[in-house]
Amino acid sequence: MANDGPKISLVTGAGSGLGRVIALALAARGDRVAICDVGEKGLDGTADLIRDAGGDVVTTVCDVSDPAGGGQAAALAVDAFGGLDYAVNNAGVEGARAPAGEYDPAEWRRVLSVNLDGVFYCMRAEIPVMLRRGGGSIVNVGSTASLGGVAGMAAYTASKHGIVGLTKSAALDHAAGNVRVNAICPGSFRTPMSDRLFGADMAKVVADTPMGRLGSIEEIASVVLFLLSDASSFMTGAALLVDGGKKAR
Ligand SMILES: NC(=O)c1ccc[n+]([C@@H]2O[C@H](COP(=O)([O-])OP(=O)(O)OC[C@H]3O[C@@H](n4cnc5c(N)ncnc54)[C@H](O)[C@@H]3O)[C@@H](O)[C@H]2O)c1
Repeated sequence: MANDGPKISLVTGAGSGLGRVIALALAARGDRVAICDVGEKGLDGTADLIRDAGGDVVTTVCDVSDPAGGGQAAALAVDAFGGLDYAVNNAGVEGARAPAGEYDPAEWRRVLSVNLDGVFYCMRAEIPVMLRRGGGSIVNVGSTASLGGVAGMAAYTASKHGIVGLTKSAALDHAAGNVRVNAICPGSFRTPMSDRLFGADMAKVVADTPMGRLGSIEEIASVVLFLLSDASSFMTGAALLVDGGKKAR
C-alpha cells in the first residue's frame, strides 16, 4: 500500500465476540484502531484491553443501522489518526427465530437494517477516505448463512447473503481505486451470539462441523489480518469460508 508507517484500522461491533478479538489482534500488530459499538460497556471493555496491552485506540458509540451512525467510526479514524487503511464491518444481530411465513416484519427490518444496511452505510463512509489515501482493504463479516439457508433464520440468512453480493459489487466498483473488498463467512465460534443461538445445543453444532470442534476466535482474527495486509494484495471480491469444512458438504 501507498502509506508507510502504522496502519489505521476500524472495527464495528467491537464490544463483544469476534469484533473484540479482531480489534485486539489489529492493535497487537501495531495498527492504530478506531472501534465502535452500540453498547458502551462492551466497547469500553475492549478499549481497556487494547490500552492495557499498549495499543492505540479510540472509541465511538454508534448504531450502524443509522446512515450517520455507520459513518461515525470512519470519521473518528480520520479525526484521531488522519485517515483509514483497513475496515472490518462486523456488527451484526442474529434476530428472532421463526419460520419465514410467520416472521415479524418489524424484526425482519431490524435485522436487515443492522446486518445489511449497516455494512452499506459503513462502506459508504470508509471507501471515499480510502480512495483519497490511495487504497485500502475492507472485510465484511458474512456467515455460512451467506451461502445456504438456515431454518428459522430467514432475516439473518437474507442479510448475510446480501453482504456477499454487496461485497462483490463494491469490489468491482473500487478495484481500479485500489480499495479491496472481501467477505469472510465464519462457521461456528463461541461468542455471546452463538451462546444465545445454540446454548445447550452446542454439541450438535460441533457434530455438524467436519473438523469436530468450534473455531477458536483467534482463527477468525488471523484470516482478517491476512485480508487486511499486503499478503492478500491480489484478492478482492472473495467470500472466504472459515468454517471447519461445514460448507464443503
Ligand atoms: N459467532 C459465530 O459463530 C458467528 C458465525 C458467523 C457469523 N458471525 C458474525 O460475526 C459478527 C460478530 O458476531 P459475534 O458472534 O461476535 O456476536 P456478538 O453478539 O458477540 O457481537 C456483536 C456486536 O455487535 C454489536 N452491535 C449489534 N448491533 C449493532 C449496531 N446496530 N451498531 C453497532 N454495533 C452493533 C453488539 O453490541 C455486539 O457487541 C456478526 O456479524 C455475526 O453475524 C458470527
